Amino acid sequence: KQALTVPKLKAMKNQGKPIAVVTAYDYPSAVLSEEAEVDMILVGDSLGNVVLGYETTVPVKLEDMIYHTRAVVRGAPGTMVVTDLPFATYRLGPEATLRNAARLMQEGGAHAVKMEGGAELADEIRLLTSAGIPVLGHLGLTPQSIHQIGGYKVQGKSEAEAEKLLSDARALEQAGAFGIVLELMTEELSAEISQAIGIPTIGIGAGRGCDGQVLVFHDLLRYGSGIREKKMVKSYANVGDTIREAIAQYVNEVKTRAFPEEKHSFTSQKAADPAQSE
Ligand code: KIV
Ligand code: NA
Repeated sequence: KQALTVPKLKAMKNQGKPIAVVTAYDYPSAVLSEEAEVDMILVGDSLGNVVLGYETTVPVKLEDMIYHTRAVVRGAPGTMVVTDLPFATYRLGPEATLRNAARLMQEGGAHAVKMEGGAELADEIRLLTSAGIPVLGHLGLTPQSIHQIGGYKVQGKSEAEAEKLLSDARALEQAGAFGIVLELMTEELSAEISQAIGIPTIGIGAGRGCDGQVLVFHDLLRYGSGIREKKMVKSYANVGDTIREAIAQYVNEVKTRAFPEEKHSFTSQKAADPAQSE
């Protein structure tokens, strides 16, 4: 299978074909996502929340993103992989940002990078794209700025906020971004942005107006502790309950000596049982 490329993604928008994106952080999540034929995998810095147990994405380091991207790329060699530039690894001036983005590609194996923010990133996006690094933008609720924003609030509700987001989207396209994630905004605004620009929008909590959707792996599967019901998320399985029940059953069988059984055990009579050769 051939990885989806930037031109193919843009063609999907033009043909009105929805783009399905999921996050992944390790080998098995990548293998399963590729087998499920997602269009693109995002190694999100949501890694910090759902895999590493941090409260926010702020503590996530570039090295964490490189390490996890390598595992994802090994698991999904035929899928386009985009990796988040984590907190304060961009906005450092175009050259420093280029060095960090290049590490995600050269050491991590990512095909593209994502960064949160608007028009103020234009110079950095221009340099990265001219160097062959495709950039995915991210507007609306931008979790790396959570301490600045003060909470997970729906964006673009006021006229002024909506106008700012629309002009930011235009600026990202102008600077060379190949797409934009729109997070937690009204569907009126995400639809308006999607129509106003020529690059695909990938929504999360942004309603029905976007060119594609992205969900966090652990939300989609209800995989983990403390994963709350969020209005914007649809859970397609409840893997957390399945795992907890399976481990509890294992613990119980060890304590009651129900596991292991004879069939799980090896004896010295190898000749009598060829299955024991392993
Ligand atoms: O880190 C992440 O998972 C993301 C998506 C929610 C877009 O940025
Ligand atoms: Na992110």
